[in-house]
This record gives sequence, structure tokens and C-alpha cells, in this order.
Amino acid sequence: MPLLVALVVLAEIAFLSRIDEWSSCDVDCDFGFANDKVPDAAFGLPHDPAIAGVLRSMESSHYYPENDVGMARRRGYKVVMTTSLSSDVPVGYFSWAEYDIMSPIRQKTEDALAAAFISNCGARNFRLQALDMLEELGIKIDSYGSCHRNRDGNVNKVETLKRYRFSLAFENSNEVDYVTEKYFQSLVAGTIPVVVGAPNIQDFAPSPGSVLHIKELHDVASVAKTMRDLAANPDAYNHTLRWKYEGPSDSFKALMDMAAVHSSCRLCIHLATKIHDEEEKNAAFQNRPCHCTSSSGTVYHLFVRERGRFKMESIYLRSGKLTLEALKSAVLAKFRSLNHTSIWKKERPAMIRGGNDLKIYRIYPVGITQQKALYTFQFDDDAELEKYIESNSCAKLEVIFV
Ligand SMILES: *[C@@H]1O[C@H](CO)[C@@H](O)[C@H](O)[C@H]1NC(C)=O
Ligand SMILES: *[C@@H]1O[C@H](CO)[C@@H](O)[C@H](O)[C@H]1NC(C)=O
Repeated sequence: MPLLVALVVLAEIAFLSRIDEWSSCDVDCDFGFANDKVPDAAFGLPHDPAIAGVLRSMESSHYYPENDVGMARRRGYKVVMTTSLSSDVPVGYFSWAEYDIMSPIRQKTEDALAAAFISNCGARNFRLQALDMLEELGIKIDSYGSCHRNRDGNVNKVETLKRYRFSLAFENSNEVDYVTEKYFQSLVAGTIPVVVGAPNIQDFAPSPGSVLHIKELHDVASVAKTMRDLAANPDAYNHTLRWKYEGPSDSFKALMDMAAVHSSCRLCIHLATKIHDEEEKNAAFQNRPCHCTSSSGTVYHLFVRERGRFKMESIYLRSGKLTLEALKSAVLAKFRSLNHTSIWKKERPAMIRGGNDLKIYRIYPVGITQQKALYTFQFDDDAELEKYIESNSCAKLEVIFV
């Protein structure tokens, strides 16, 4: 398979300032204008249908409906980059680099149970009613934002949150995957987040049971009771934050690690993969051998790459042994033989970087969304994997190591 070097010229000057945020990328791609070149992609909706339109925004689709993935596709965008993990190239608020997630826990010295930094009292969800109800239930809240303010707001937010047992991480909309710095700052501070926001916030929990979620106003009373119980029981409280000592779950690491590769680089990989897929439709590619059969059976050629990289590695599986176990051990053997270093290695905090060996978290077909890759996709059993390999010649897979 020839290695493709895609030239991606993205036409938007506002974006140029971000380029220096990433130093190396598996795909050699250029952002900017060039008079003598037609770009492969451009931000916005280009007039030329040969140029892929890219929508990039971190705003909630509840306020900016054009950011809804379905809506963006209907409007003609080929590549959607939003906070949704179902978008082509998710752009989240999270990254190891931005948040010192494993920063140690401090003593809880405040009388109030929770701190709140809510600056806009007019959100479109029920966060204000939830705040009112918590207060009515006698939960003492120190409010530093302009909404219900009872403390001077001119403070360092994370340092302040560290002194409280709970943090009200109330987003301004309850949108799937829309999780902002309010939440991640609470994790840094080592305070238990009480969330109004993404219905799937538990997907973002550093360990099971570490986040309290007010899904609907009906939950406020039980969440208030849990807050009170935890505050009255230091061991139970400490247990809820044990991920700070033991490290977060593999699921949380796999999510955060995605952002170890800059979204601009992930965009380039996405585009280059699409271009490559197109190239593979030509006759020369169609005729390449993807399996060979002899008297001892059939050997299948598969391609595997680590998420966040473009380059594929070859692995081979034998008929009669097309099992999930065989796939995993072939992937591990391949990457071990290459002395492969996980792409997130430098990004993750040292205490949760692990040793040098590789551990597989997920293997999935290239091209599915991160929402599916992280939470829903799996080859159900050996039979399904076998069917997949037999019906996708030179199947291309992606692996997430944790
Ligand atoms: C909390 O638990 C950790 C172990 O999970 C322990 O090291 C630490 O001392 C505990 N802190 C308190 C205040 O109990
Ligand atoms: C991997 O590391 C081993 C031992 O350090 C070395 O002998 C081997 O040549 C390396 N392999 C590759 C592909 O770099």
C-alpha cells in the first residue's frame, strides 16, 4: 500500500494561529492559501464541490443549531468537527495538557458544601431551578458567579474549588457530549462534580460513581441527600475520589487520550484517510491480493493503526483462527515488534502513564465515530469477526491502547 502524503490546504486565516499548537502529525498537511493549488478541504462551505467543506465549532447545538451533525451534513459539510463524539473529528474541551487532572486533593476547609461559578442566569436548561431547589433543601452553596452571588467572584477558580467538597458543574445546555471546562476544572480541583448538562456525563466520569448527575429536576432531592451523606462520612467521600489516588478508569483514559493528538492533526488524518479510500477504488488497488489460499487454508491480510496515527501496519490471520483472541495477539505482537510507543505517552500525567507494555482497549473498523468506538461498537463474537474479515478485503482497523 503506497504511503499517501496528502496536501490539505485549508483556507481560513483565523485558523492559522492555531497551527503552531501541534508540532508533529502523521500526515504532512499544510494549512493556508496557495495560488497554484486547489485545497482538499476548506473551512466553511466552498463553492467548488471538489473541496470538502469543514465545519468546526465548539458551541452547543442547542444555541447554534447549525452545529448539529445531521443539520451540518444536510447543509453540505463533508467534515464536521464539534464537541459531539459522533462528529467526524471531535473537538472537546478536554485534554491532559490543558487540565492537571491528577493534581492532588486538598483539605476541604469550607463550611458550605458546594461552590458554584454560574455567570449567566438565563440558560435554556433547568440549571437555575436546580440551584434554587438545592438551596431550598438547605444545601449551603457559595456562589462566585454573577448568578446568586454571595461570595466575591474575583478568585482563582480551580484553587477555590479545591476547598469545597462539591462543585456545581452546571452547563448552559443539556447536550450529549457537551462537557466544558466547568466539569474538567472540578476534576482538577479534586471536588465531586454535581452536574447539570450532558445526559451522558457518566461517559466522562473518571471512575464509576465519581460524578453526581442531576438528569432532571426530579433528581435534585436525592442528589442533595447523597451530598449530605457523603459530607457526613469522610471515608465514603474519600472513596468517591479514589481515582485521584489509584488513577482513572481505562474508559476515561481512552477518552482523554483522543485529545493527545491535536484536532488539526486528526482533521488531516481524517481527510487523508478519505482520499486514500477513494484511491483504493481504482483497478490497481482492487486487484491487490488481500488473502491467499493454499492447501493449509487461507491467510488474510489486515491493516491496523493506532488511533491518532495515519500509517497502517500489516497483520495476518489464518482461516480457522479468525478469533478475537487471535486478532488481539496479532495486533500486540505487531506493535511490540515495532517497539511501538503509544501516541498519548508524552501527554498523560506521569503517574498514570503505565509501563512500556501495550494494553488494548478497543479494536474497531477505521471510519466509525469515536462515540461508537469508545462506547458502543464491539465485534460480538468470533463469528462476527470472521464474517467481517471475509467480507472486507484488506480490512482496516484502528486500535486504542491504554
Ligand atoms: C483517602 O484514600 C486514600 C487511598 O485511596 C488514602 O491514601 C488517603 O489517606 C485517604 N484520605 C483521607 C483523608 O482519608
Ligand atoms: C526494539 O527494541 C529491541 C531491544 O531494545 C531491539 O533489539 C530491536 O531492534 C528494536 N526493534 C525495532 C523495530 O526498533
